[in-house]
Amino acid sequence: MKFTVFFVLFLVELIFKVSATNVVCYYMSTNGYGSVLPESINPNLCTHLNYAFVGLNKNGSLSYLNQDLDVKKNLFKRVSALKSINPDLKVLFSIASPIFTEVASNETKRELLANSAKEFLKTFNYDGIDLDWEFPKSNQTADYLNLLSDIRSVLGNKWLLTAALPSTPTAAYNATDIFKILDFANIMSYDYFGPWSSRTGQNSALFESSRDSGYEKKYLNVAIAAKNWIKVGANPSKINMGLPFYGRQFELKNSSIHGLHAPINGGGKRKAASFTIICRDYGNWTKVWDEEQKNPYKYLENQWIGYDDEESIALKTQHILSNKYAGVMVWHIGSDDVYGVCGGKNQTLLNVINKEIKNFNLKVEKI
Ligand SMILES: *[C@@H]1O[C@H](CO)[C@@H](O)[C@H](O)[C@H]1NC(C)=O
Ligand SMILES: *[C@@H]1O[C@H](CO)[C@@H](O)[C@H](O)[C@H]1NC(C)=O
Ligand SMILES: *[C@@H]1O[C@H](CO)[C@@H](O)[C@H](O)[C@H]1NC(C)=O
Ligand SMILES: *[C@@H]1O[C@H](CO)[C@@H](O)[C@H](O)[C@H]1NC(C)=O
Ligand SMILES: *[C@@H]1O[C@H](CO)[C@@H](O)[C@H](O)[C@H]1NC(C)=O
Ligand SMILES: *[C@@H]1O[C@H](CO)[C@@H](O)[C@H](O)[C@H]1NC(C)=O
Ligand SMILES: *[C@@H]1O[C@H](CO)[C@@H](O)[C@H](O)[C@H]1NC(C)=O
Repeated sequence: MKFTVFFVLFLVELIFKVSATNVVCYYMSTNGYGSVLPESINPNLCTHLNYAFVGLNKNGSLSYLNQDLDVKKNLFKRVSALKSINPDLKVLFSIASPIFTEVASNETKRELLANSAKEFLKTFNYDGIDLDWEFPKSNQTADYLNLLSDIRSVLGNKWLLTAALPSTPTAAYNATDIFKILDFANIMSYDYFGPWSSRTGQNSALFESSRDSGYEKKYLNVAIAAKNWIKVGANPSKINMGLPFYGRQFELKNSSIHGLHAPINGGGKRKAASFTIICRDYGNWTKVWDEEQKNPYKYLENQWIGYDDEESIALKTQHILSNKYAGVMVWHIGSDDVYGVCGGKNQTLLNVINKEIKNFNLKVEKI
């Protein structure tokens, strides 16, 4: 009996060690000198730090999007230097470019991309590449797959290869095939409602609302986004679900009609607001917690915002953990309350995520 208990505990511990939860943090370099320099990030709160972004030259090689920040002010290396504080931290270059189409359809360019990526990784002491192609079209399935496999064959398994994927799978992705190549994928499970919508709604609700249309219930929440990807062949243990550290703001048509799915004139005075701005400057707005969607919204006069706070981020993290997905992805850590100006801890939301992961692991250990 005693032996069995020990054995089970041993197994539980073993499972834990192999299945560490990913906390993939996007670092927006242009935010750097604006507010968040690498040195103000606590690198123990992320497992992966994605440098957003690097671009592509016409011939396929990697390019600086902002050479002043990346190289002259040395942000590339100052980000990878955070590994000296957290030796387990992995640092990746996230590639975003309007010319993925031209590069992915040409074998020579794909190879140059892959080789140039490898040079970047070595030069700046990074651990991998994250592809943020927004988005391949349904007739580019083969190009997308070729791009991934060419990069993988140059990088081998020594370096990480990950991708940001849209919330809803499309024909551009053969999920079964791409998940065999990727180390993991970051699902952009946000931007569900915004100035482009016809009424108020959450940027990133965890669950559906009873007010949702059939289409909205099928696609526009974090829980269903994960299921949709798994249904088409994504490996659940390789998906990180995206958590936005910002909200989307609207102008109400009639300030006395301010619930979920209220009529709007379009985007608000701000189209989007970071968590810091919401917690610091929206104190006199009326806050409503939506128990169905597990997200808060706020309104003041004709302005309305759907967003994430400590509570919704905690519930989403729990959902991701209990479904045994790979982890969470955060866009982006610079919009967190990095300096604790709202009275919480520094990096308030990142701390919430880490606390939930720790609590979850303690609970499982007790079983
Ligand atoms: C690719 O283009 C970049 C920028 O124009 C250039 O610096 C680089 O030398 C080119 N690489 C090759 C292999 O042609
Ligand atoms: C691919 O790109 C190379 C130059 O990078 C060019 O010489 C070649 O013609 C291109 N191939 C096709 C099929 O467009
Ligand atoms: C692929 O589809 C897009 C529209 O989604 C179209 O503009 C493009 O010409 C198509 N490309 C090819 C090679 O058929
Ligand atoms: C994905 O590719 C595999 C071959 O690698 C093929 O068997 C499968 O049918 C493809 N899936 C879709 C949805 O096209
Ligand atoms: C705004 O909505 C309220 C409550 O439904 C209604 O009484 C009022 O007439 C509306 N105002 C306008 C300008 O439509
Ligand atoms: C709400 O607070 C902001 C400052 O945080 C202030 O500028 C604004 O006038 C206030 N609005 C109302 C209606 O109290
Ligand atoms: C929070 O951040 C500020 C500014 O970077 C720093 O001065 C302070 O020491 C930090 N507090 C903690 C508890 O880390």
